[in-house]
Amino acid sequence: FNGALCDGRCRSSTLPACARAEASPSMSESIFVYSRLRSVSNEVEVKPPGAVTVKNVAFTMNGVFNEDAKQADVYDQAAAPLVERVLAGFNSTMLAYGQTGSGKTYTMLGSEEAKANLDKELGEEHGIIPRASKQLFAGLRDGQTVQVSYVEVYNDSINDMLNPSYGKEKGMNLPLREVNMQAGGKACVPDGLTRAPAKDSADVMRLIAKGDNNRVVAAMQMNPRSSRGHGIVALHVVDREGEPYGRLTLCDLAGMESSKKSAAVDAGPSSLAIRKEEAKRINISLLALSSVVSVLASKGASRVPYRDSKLTRILQDSLGGNCQCAIVVTVRCEKENLEEAINTLRFAQRAAAIKVQIVSNAEARANARPKAAKLAEELEAARSVMANFEDQLASAEGAKAQLLAEVQTLMDEMQLLQRDNARRETEAAKLQQQNHLAEDSKKKEKNDPLGRVKMETVADFEPEDAKEISMFGGDIVEVFTKKPAPAGWWYADNGGKIGLVPQSFLVELEGDADIAEVVWLRTRVYELEEENRVLRQRDLMHKMAALSSRTGSEAEDGPKMQLTEGFQMDQLEVFAPIQEAASPAKQSQSEPEPAAPPRVKKAKSRLGSALLFSRGGSARNVRAGK
Ligand SMILES: Nc1ncnc2c1ncn2[C@@H]1O[C@H](COP(=O)(O)OP(=O)(O)O)[C@@H](O)[C@H]1O
Ligand SMILES: [Mg+2]
Repeated sequence: FNGALCDGRCRSSTLPACARAEASPSMSESIFVYSRLRSVSNEVEVKPPGAVTVKNVAFTMNGVFNEDAKQADVYDQAAAPLVERVLAGFNSTMLAYGQTGSGKTYTMLGSEEAKANLDKELGEEHGIIPRASKQLFAGLRDGQTVQVSYVEVYNDSINDMLNPSYGKEKGMNLPLREVNMQAGGKACVPDGLTRAPAKDSADVMRLIAKGDNNRVVAAMQMNPRSSRGHGIVALHVVDREGEPYGRLTLCDLAGMESSKKSAAVDAGPSSLAIRKEEAKRINISLLALSSVVSVLASKGASRVPYRDSKLTRILQDSLGGNCQCAIVVTVRCEKENLEEAINTLRFAQRAAAIKVQIVSNAEARANARPKAAKLAEELEAARSVMANFEDQLASAEGAKAQLLAEVQTLMDEMQLLQRDNARRETEAAKLQQQNHLAEDSKKKEKNDPLGRVKMETVADFEPEDAKEISMFGGDIVEVFTKKPAPAGWWYADNGGKIGLVPQSFLVELEGDADIAEVVWLRTRVYELEEENRVLRQRDLMHKMAALSSRTGSEAEDGPKMQLTEGFQMDQLEVFAPIQEAASPAKQSQSEPEPAAPPRVKKAKSRLGSALLFSRGGSARNVRAGK
């Protein structure tokens, strides 16, 4: 922009080229800043095209208007381009910023007289809003309509100036709703804000005049009709389809107030407190606005503190969104106001550094449409994926339930098996124990059959008088002794221990067929041996008797005949009772003993082979079962 200094007489000012452009693709735009000076003093120097120096502090604006500037001049240069942009389908905002009494309301609406005749023919004193409204309606295309909204940000609450019920609670303090803009970014929209349709510019101005009556205005030192809040009028151009086409936002801000200068006039103590609170709230919101402008102006800043006040929230879209913005700062140049003048110009200077990306609403919509379609597509795809997952989840749940049931069945079976196993193990252990017990008792029986019987040691037992005659289940051997056993008892040798064994026990042992057979065979062998011996002894005695009678007749003192080696005649005495036996037997020692039947272990006894007969003893025999 090469805006020339407007001296207030020039109506054909140079407008920013881009600001005058027709609807075009996305472009990077700055905020246009203008200053309107009042009571210019020596301390203030104005240089074309947009330079202004206050107390040697220089500022460069898009345009500077001195106190002689007409309403039309300001409008043409600063506001008309914005209206053109709106008519081209863009969003624009015009802000009036400045000290109280500096001429903001005058610039936006007009003089007091003009304000009283807003809906009338445009006069010289009519400000930006009536002019813009007129221009807007003049430029509308077929089918386009205009809707008007008017809010006042008062003490950080949003009030609807066009709500018919305003003042009866309704329309007061509207909540702000954050919405996503088609061009990107967010905007805060007062929820439930009235959008009054206006058929022409006069209609718009009637609505605004009506809304103006709802504004809080107080007599202040700096301004007898000082606005106590920020007024924001929006003219919405809606296309034939009802879609937003363009929007012109016109904002008459309340002025920064110093407590010294901005005292209330003719006010009682209660209204004084109200004015103080208003001033505080105004200053807080303007500081928030200043912060937002500073952050937006410093490129790369990530977080813009829009949320610090209702004013900045509601202006979020105008300052940093898809919106061409222009700011007119009104400055009082009296000596006592120069500090405020510098601060105001600084604000404008910072705002001038803000760059925004702008697209027409139609383009934003067109861009958003495929985006929305793509998003809808993605949403649909995501939904179908989710449905698929849900199906899978459902079937997985089913499978899980089935698996759980199977696991439960298996666990039940396992439990049964474990119980069964435990029972079997117990039984096996019992059986094993029984088996061990049985084995033990068998072993015990086998190794020590006499363990079951009472073994009475025979004290006066003479080994040489015993004879092994039988064996029972191991080393039990029945033996004979000189001393006869008591009735029902036998002598037995159990591994070298000679004792009395009850006959019943031996008979019991003989229950074994083999043993019984062995016993019987052994018995037979002994019987036959006995018979054989008796017969041989008898035979021998007969021979001896015959020989003795023969030698006795030949020589009485003849030599004694040696019968057999180791045999003495006096030994014959013992055989006396069987001398009448039939035939003499052969020498017993030379006769081999009958062989033991197979499987019969030869009994071992420490007695060795005992005598079959003992002198003076009686022959005894095993009373085996056979
Ligand atoms: N440029 C101007 N020319 C003539 N009168 C003006 C001008 N600027 C402001 N005034 C008058 O000064 C008074 C205060 O201005 P106003 O716009 O209400 O101040 P504020 O900035 O507080 O809104 C009003 O009576 C207004 O008509
Ligand atoms: Mg005002």
